[in-house]
Amino acid sequence: MKSLSWLKTGLAAAAMTAAISVSSFAAVSDTGYIDVASDAWYADSVVYCSEQGIMNGTGEYQFSPDGQTTRAMIASVLYRLQDSPEAEENSIFADVSEGSWYYDAVMWASENNIMNGYNQTQFGPDDAVTREQFASILWRSEGAPAGEEETTFSDSSQISSYAKQAVAWARENGIISGKEGNRFDPNGVATRAEISSMIYRWLNQSENTNTSDENEMEEDVSENNTDILIAYFSRTGNTESVAEALADMTGGDLFEITPVEDYPTDYNACLEQAQRELNDNARPAISSTVENMEQYEVVMVGFPIWYGDTPMIIQTFLESYDFDGKTIAPFSTSGSSGIGGAVNSIEELCPESEVLEGLSVTSSNINRAEEMASEWLSEIGLNVSEESNEAPNQSQQIEIAFGDTVLYALAENNVTANDFLSDFPVSMEFEDYNNTEKISYLSEELQVEENRTAYQPQIGDLCYYVPWGNLCFFYGNANASSDLVPVAHLLSGAEQIGQIENGTVISMR
Ligand SMILES: Cc1cc2nc3c(=O)[nH]c(=O)nc-3n(C[C@H](O)[C@H](O)[C@H](O)COP(=O)(O)O)c2cc1C
Repeated sequence: MKSLSWLKTGLAAAAMTAAISVSSFAAVSDTGYIDVASDAWYADSVVYCSEQGIMNGTGEYQFSPDGQTTRAMIASVLYRLQDSPEAEENSIFADVSEGSWYYDAVMWASENNIMNGYNQTQFGPDDAVTREQFASILWRSEGAPAGEEETTFSDSSQISSYAKQAVAWARENGIISGKEGNRFDPNGVATRAEISSMIYRWLNQSENTNTSDENEMEEDVSENNTDILIAYFSRTGNTESVAEALADMTGGDLFEITPVEDYPTDYNACLEQAQRELNDNARPAISSTVENMEQYEVVMVGFPIWYGDTPMIIQTFLESYDFDGKTIAPFSTSGSSGIGGAVNSIEELCPESEVLEGLSVTSSNINRAEEMASEWLSEIGLNVSEESNEAPNQSQQIEIAFGDTVLYALAENNVTANDFLSDFPVSMEFEDYNNTEKISYLSEELQVEENRTAYQPQIGDLCYYVPWGNLCFFYGNANASSDLVPVAHLLSGAEQIGQIENGTVISMR
């Protein structure tokens, strides 16, 4: 295997000079690109790579920092770094035709074992490069130095076995840093900004001896590397609970889209207002603002379905920021409608974004919302964080049905609630007690903790009353008691519980 470490030596002097001039250039002026702010964490490395001719802009004044980098581009970048030597081999790859702009680069990269094909015939020149792939490419360019395989990244178990040594080497040498939550995100597509930054650090490795500039850059990267935003609008809390579950699973930042003027709490009045806004193609004003939208590569946009589409305030949101080059992952809650119409609207509003398949949670499957969200994240290629895998069922949703009404509650995570849930589905007759609660006696006692402290019931709570062995749904205020154990809390609808007749059967599942 041929080591390319000489590359760094050849470029070292130029790199040092460039690094010094770049820092001041990026700080006091602009970067030469309209889409690379001088205070962006990758500004120095972008300017460095441009000045060295390692990476060119994507337009006259554009670098497209959030854009993807294909395998053909990477081969060309590394090939240019070696002054484009003659390639000796002929293509064995059916997808790399002679005469293509990357032909020589791919031949050279494969000949030198820096980038191999997927198999004997496929190189995948147009495929995006992931973060672990790029670490491996740099590692092989360095001569594949032997070393540790383990890293302390929180998602290290997701790093492919072929890339483990490379990632450990890249971290050891300060070439890569983690994202928020100490994630490496091995399967995340490496953006052009990330590629430029890794190349910059790789070429300047030997000079990375704790100078203040380099430390500053490392800090900047980890501070700003939260690349998922979960932005949602929710009038009655359904979409909000899905958004919160997604934030827990991805470690992304949550942002609530709040209207300047609240929507009416009265359902019919809200229907009328939403209909008016739709007819007028209105853009209801938003009172909140996303700081640093440019740092997010993936924006999950959540909303209730209104008239088969997004509420108009979502259109205001999508027009308020530049989503070009970003990935938009839509999710919705609704009575029964799907998300298809809303996805079409988002695609129309954001033609330069990649709009992914949406997640639709309807009222009939809202009790499976977390499970569906997790499946959806896998389908769209976003990993569920280890943290959320370790803590399942902490907020299991309960469907509570009587007559035509369906309500939802979140279960507590205690032995009593778990014991109650283990008997599901159940149907029980409730009667009023004291004008504060509706109660029903269980045929068998539930398990309880020995040492209980007094619990102050809240309106909307479902509790277990230990001495009598009954459940109680609180719709009015009641006293605290150490004999009350919380089992679940209604997301909404406590007043509807208060209105049920004695003898009403409530089903829970
Ligand atoms: C103005 C308005 C229009 C609605 N239109 C639809 C619809 O077309 N299809 C549907 O299935 N549900 C519709 N719904 C129900 C909501 O989508 C559903 O209750 C949603 O889960 C509410 O989410 P939220 O709690 O986050 O506000 C509508 C609700 C409102 C208030």
